[in-house]
Amino acid sequence: MRYIERVARAMKILAGNSNRALTEAIAAYLGVPLTKCQVRRFADMEIFVEIQENVRGQDTFVVQSTSYPANDHLMEVLIMTDALRRASARRITAVIPYFGYARQDRKPGPRTPISAKLVANLITRAGADRVLTVDLHAGQIQGFFDIPTDNLYAAPLLVRDIKERLELHNVMVVSPDVGGVLRARALAKRIAAPLAIVDKRRERAGDSEVMNIIGDVAGKSCILVDDIVDSGGTLCNAADALLNEGAQEVYAYITHGVLSGGAVARIAASRLKELVLTDTIQATEAIRVSNNIRVVSIAPLIGEAIARTAKEESVSSLFD
Ligand code: R5P
Repeated sequence: MRYIERVARAMKILAGNSNRALTEAIAAYLGVPLTKCQVRRFADMEIFVEIQENVRGQDTFVVQSTSYPANDHLMEVLIMTDALRRASARRITAVIPYFGYARQDRKPGPRTPISAKLVANLITRAGADRVLTVDLHAGQIQGFFDIPTDNLYAAPLLVRDIKERLELHNVMVVSPDVGGVLRARALAKRIAAPLAIVDKRRERAGDSEVMNIIGDVAGKSCILVDDIVDSGGTLCNAADALLNEGAQEVYAYITHGVLSGGAVARIAASRLKELVLTDTIQATEAIRVSNNIRVVSIAPLIGEAIARTAKEESVSSLFD
């Protein structure tokens, strides 16, 4: 038997309920069937888990985004991890394509939690040996885990799409806020494009926000780059500001489509030419039928990272 076949046979991929389609695509990439596992509800909505295959001594990967409903999906991954640990899995990797609760990652004011650290503690205490995630809201959240944590970047996937669709000589990458400059700069570097920044300011409490654009965007095809789109407000306002400054068109490439409330309708009614997302969060029907939102799959990237983890090979070299 070939080495890779031996590795695949000793590997178990388990799906929580957050994004079964992505987990199936990852399993298909790896050429392994999903491990039989029930994750359902008791009558009172408590979570019931039963792994229906032997996992003793196996290298196991639980795929679960802690997306909406975040509390349920978080509990599912914790309970599945507990089940694997008690079933003597050799190693448990929590594959969390979208790591929720990441936006409170420091104390900006008194009496606020650091929920990203709390969630990291919960996952570790449940029994995970490793974490594999994608585009953490802030890179330093990696340090909240005292177990090995790989933070994959969606950038190579997004760059491939940008190169296939846009005339690169006229592209300008734009960070929609000052906090996202590092991420946008890294993507701009990959396509050798210039960088602009939307600087949002409120001069006085109660005054409306003023958007200043740092960089000359006139006549450019602008690409807004961010980790999360939630209400869509950041993107739609940035698109307006860029077009008002003479940008030719505005696209957005975002890793995690949280898209809560009326976000999809807001994006549809906006002046954004297209929003491109990855499938770290399962697309709703509204996203699937939307005219200006497109989803590209991150399954091959996560699948390859899982294969390399199983074979004890470098994961970071995926991004060289
Ligand atoms: C903020 O730090 C994030 O990177 C996103 O810019 C933000 O979460 C987007 O939120 P919304 O779509 O609600 O404006």
